[in-house]
Amino acid sequence: MVHITDSVAWVGKIDWELRKFHGDEYSTHRGTSYNAYLVRDRKTVLIDTVWKPFAEEFVEGLSRIIDLTKIDAIVANHAEIDHSGALPTLMERIPNTAIYCTANGVKSLKGHYHKDWDFRVVKTGDRLKTGDRELIFIEAPMLHWPDSMMCYLTDEKILFSNDAFGQHYASEFLFNDLVDQNELFTEALKYYANILTPFSSLVVKKIEEILSFNLPVSMICPSHGVIWRTNPTQIVEKYLEWAKDYQENQITILYDTMWEGTRKLAEAITQGVRDSIPQTEVKLYNLSKTDKNDVVAEVFKSKGILVGSPTINHGILTSLAAFFEEVKGLSMKEKKAAAFGCYGWSGEGVKILNEQLRLSGFEVVSEGFKLLWEPDESALLLAREFGKQVAKQFL
Ligand code: FEO
Repeated sequence: MVHITDSVAWVGKIDWELRKFHGDEYSTHRGTSYNAYLVRDRKTVLIDTVWKPFAEEFVEGLSRIIDLTKIDAIVANHAEIDHSGALPTLMERIPNTAIYCTANGVKSLKGHYHKDWDFRVVKTGDRLKTGDRELIFIEAPMLHWPDSMMCYLTDEKILFSNDAFGQHYASEFLFNDLVDQNELFTEALKYYANILTPFSSLVVKKIEEILSFNLPVSMICPSHGVIWRTNPTQIVEKYLEWAKDYQENQITILYDTMWEGTRKLAEAITQGVRDSIPQTEVKLYNLSKTDKNDVVAEVFKSKGILVGSPTINHGILTSLAAFFEEVKGLSMKEKKAAAFGCYGWSGEGVKILNEQLRLSGFEVVSEGFKLLWEPDESALLLAREFGKQVAKQFL
């Protein structure tokens, strides 16, 4: 337990070991935390729990802090297992405790646990009096699940934002001002890029709605990572920036290769891009050797991408196919793209890359560069020239 204020304590779990989240879908190089909070006013309210593997540890820890029967209410801001996973264990001990959540939260919690707990459905603006203070509920559908919700504690001026404004970042420091800022914002951006990008228009609307309530915010307590207590709205400003077709002065080149031909093209194209726009950062990744969520974060930051694959079996390499499956769902906008690759026989690779780029929402600015067999010096010069020309169209 860590006291955040006189009446609010962090009672979550830091997961130092986690390296994959959502099954194997999201890499967590720096672990994560499942943040739960205990509000102790005249009533005691628990906000969220932790992931299922830590359920026993969580409930035992909580029982050492407080007589569990003194918990008057539980707020389930979001039913995904990383926050609700300890509910079944906890509810075995206090089965009649009310659980406050959205209507979709009831569906989701029932769907996961098949229990008829004492659900209290709340909507935006509903309040739960904790004593001297009140919790005000704010529905946040699709940020990032239909059931998602936030709540705001008056007096303490704390926004419990659940997944929004979080990071998969394990740290004993707990507060934003105490941790390495580069690590913090790297993780916060990766989290936004991989989880929240599809909902960017809703992010903007929800932030504008919350701002319209004119609630002063002294702290933002997300359900993962550190608490924003110093200049807490800096992450809100970042979200507004990231939600509006964010890009930095960066071009990212993604490829895979069988016999090094497409790799050589990728490197020659990189030189061409640098010749053309030397002030622009160019990053080059072999997709089969790079973490896909890190790649998504780089694409998110880019104004344009180039993708390369040799042709194989009338198709493209599977690392490229997986990349498109990933980015299609993220609906990134206002990004330009072009394709390249070697071939030996049928040569459809570049055409397929172009199709996939368009289907994934990229603006394809060139028909691409395809090369029969291995590049020699003259082919590499042509590839470099292709990079120069494409770079100009990315501006
Ligand atoms: Fe952190 Fe959507 O769960």
